[in-house]
Amino acid sequence: MKLEEAKGNWALVTGASSGIGREFALQLAAVGMNMVLVARRKPLLDILGSKLSQRYEVRALILPVDLSRTNAISEIRSHLVTEGVKVRMLVNNAAFGRWGRFEATPAEVYEEMIRLNEMAMVSLCHHFLEDLSSFPTSVIINVSSPAAYNPIPYMAVYAATKAFVSSFSQALYGEWRDRGVLVQTLVPGPTETEFDTVAGAYASALKGRESTDTVVKTSLAHLAGDAPLVITAKGTYKQRVFTALFPVKMVIKTVARMFQPPKGN
Ligand SMILES: NC(=O)c1ccc[n+]([C@@H]2O[C@H](COP(=O)([O-])OP(=O)(O)OC[C@H]3O[C@@H](n4cnc5c(N)ncnc54)[C@H](OP(=O)(O)O)[C@@H]3O)[C@@H](O)[C@H]2O)c1
Repeated sequence: MKLEEAKGNWALVTGASSGIGREFALQLAAVGMNMVLVARRKPLLDILGSKLSQRYEVRALILPVDLSRTNAISEIRSHLVTEGVKVRMLVNNAAFGRWGRFEATPAEVYEEMIRLNEMAMVSLCHHFLEDLSSFPTSVIINVSSPAAYNPIPYMAVYAATKAFVSSFSQALYGEWRDRGVLVQTLVPGPTETEFDTVAGAYASALKGRESTDTVVKTSLAHLAGDAPLVITAKGTYKQRVFTALFPVKMVIKTVARMFQPPKGN
């Protein structure tokens, strides 16, 4: 899809209150797309919405929703139908992770993580296919991570959710490409956002941060080429070769060393 063709159409961005999602909202509004901004922190969405309307003269609809809640997605869809909003671009970006020993995080937090990182994404794709396929071309961007490429001890559930995201999204690309719906899987590297703070990151195992600006610009630049997979992360080639060719035991041991908590934790 050529981005300029989407001027005046609506994009829905999840996790728009900070980081990569906020940057998607800024860059899509800059090309003239109206925005549905979804996250839990309403004050941040309100500020962003006003900024987009004033700076780019687009419409911004604020939806302060906890996407891990049952029925959240069907409620969003019903609300947008009532508002007469048809979505041409869906950015499934909201997610969180947790560093540390598996047992140190309550099971309820993992349930929330799986509902947000996996189920909300699947449900949004399902609920908005009708909208998306009503346009000659449309786009879903599902944000994954290099964490998808191998198991990560001490970040076990998050890595598994991202493996799910990558597998699901690339499969959906295969199903929906002929309908004009491009499903892009985006793999950012470590990026300067609130992610590490929320995740309780304790190590600087992942050196070198990308800017949200670069991540989003690279993703959007690949839309015209219909790319199923956009990797902005550096070094994933080595990571994938290492994971594929070396003994599983060695891979797990190496990754465990990178992510193990400091003594006393
Ligand atoms: N930063 C990195 O190093 C990195 C690397 C690779 C991949 N990624 C991926 O990039 C994506 C964006 O993360 P980020 O780095 O931009 O982190 P971030 O700054 O923490 O942003 C996460 C966003 O998700 C929203 N969110 C969290 N829980 C939610 C819920 N239950 N319901 C609705 N919204 C919720 C947050 O808003 P509220 O708190 O207001 O709800 C926030 O807007 C994620 O998919 C992440 O896995 C990040």
